[in-house]
Amino acid sequence: VSAVRAPEPGAPVRIGLLGCGTVGQAVVRTLIDGARTIERASGHRLEVGPVLVRDAARERPGIDPALLTTDPARVLDDPAVAIVVEVMGGVEPTLGYLRRALARGASVVTANKQLLSRHGPELLRAAEEAGAELRFEASACAAIPVIKVLRESLLAAEIRALIGIVNGTTNYILTEMAREGTSYAEALARAQELGYAEADPTEDVGGADAAAKMAILASIAFHSRVLIDDVPYEGIDHLQAEDLAHAEALGFVVKLVGVARLLNGSVSVRVYPALVPRGHRLAAIGGPDNAVLLESRATRQIMLVGPGAGGDETASAVLADILSVLGTHQGSFLHNALADAGRPIAPPGSVPSAFYLRTSVADRPGVLARVAQIFADEGLSILSVVQSGYGDEASLVLILHEGIEDSMQRAVARIRALDDVRDDPVMLRVLGSGEGGE
Ligand SMILES: NC(=O)c1ccc[n+]([C@@H]2O[C@H](COP(=O)([O-])OP(=O)(O)OC[C@H]3O[C@@H](n4cnc5c(N)ncnc54)[C@H](OP(=O)(O)O)[C@@H]3O)[C@@H](O)[C@H]2O)c1
Repeated sequence: VSAVRAPEPGAPVRIGLLGCGTVGQAVVRTLIDGARTIERASGHRLEVGPVLVRDAARERPGIDPALLTTDPARVLDDPAVAIVVEVMGGVEPTLGYLRRALARGASVVTANKQLLSRHGPELLRAAEEAGAELRFEASACAAIPVIKVLRESLLAAEIRALIGIVNGTTNYILTEMAREGTSYAEALARAQELGYAEADPTEDVGGADAAAKMAILASIAFHSRVLIDDVPYEGIDHLQAEDLAHAEALGFVVKLVGVARLLNGSVSVRVYPALVPRGHRLAAIGGPDNAVLLESRATRQIMLVGPGAGGDETASAVLADILSVLGTHQGSFLHNALADAGRPIAPPGSVPSAFYLRTSVADRPGVLARVAQIFADEGLSILSVVQSGYGDEASLVLILHEGIEDSMQRAVARIRALDDVRDDPVMLRVLGSGEGGE
């Protein structure tokens, strides 16, 4: 194993990039901003550059122009570059570039689904022969760590099916068509306006992008060689709003799904628009999100959901791969999670949340005003009030906007002490939209 691939603990490691577009710029920024965390985790200080581009004169916010080069040899052939991050896309000349870097023992981290779904097996072999690593988490579902979960956490789980919504553009378009009853053309135009679809959306709407990702995911899930040519695919460009409406009326939503299965020991991978029952876990995945449902006998169903595109999102997966290549050294914080940043624990009374309160009250004039005054005194504001029943059976049900726990506890104690209130009020917390909701 060469010194390039197994840097001495503590030695600096140089990362060269091929490409500095949407993803490349986010990778450079993340490497610079996250330098300390990466160093603590891996034991290595990372040095960034050179970065290959076509046009070195182009303005790139936050990127030092001195890092840029138009000469591929400076990234591919310099033994000082230990890890090559490929975020330029395309099959040619990229394939030749990666072969060249791997041949000299550099490890490669790539986001390129089209290349991998055509030449993945060959590149993996080249990496193995050179004793280098080839990692490609960012090539499928951007921020969602599905490849790492398949390769490590579920390695022995014997996955029997992997069903995915792996293209955010089409999922956004289908969500819009179903929600608004808009035509395919209108929904596509809107997706382009919002940056969810490329100017030339053919790869996405025709299904090729999803097929490439499914080929990569199925290869890992089934430990088999699956290329894009093995994946029959259809897109959504021929769908009509009328069929989405019929599906809706029958209790389905239409999604572009990738379905990879083991059928009597053979691998089947296909991509097509499908009617998904409204109660199915994938039916709830809306907008540009991606989701992958992994099925095995032992683990039953595990679903991973998250953003499937975007510069920062994809850079997050690239960074994770860089850390995997470097490994994590003994004594680093990944080995000893408690030795993290040493943050203090927040006092429970200081934590904000929204609240539900039910209290039984005597149905007398002014009760609501007295309760409302207490909340106002404590700096809590009411979102909704429902009064039900009357006389001795009356109860007030309130939902409060987000406030501080201590304030709510004081308000509840004061309400309990009112003459109009008969029993202990019931207080529950409400999960806010910032806590995992839409
Ligand atoms: N964008 C996403 O959300 C996303 C998500 C997951 C995966 N990916 C994958 O990540 C890769 C990069 O995507 P991106 O959106 O960042 O693309 P991009 O914005 O078009 O950036 C491509 C970069 O590569 C450079 N480049 C392209 N061909 C080159 C060549 N022949 N020689 C030298 N430099 C070349 C370009 O240089 P110039 O700047 O000088 O033109 C540009 O900096 C693709 O494989 C894509 O499929 C992207």
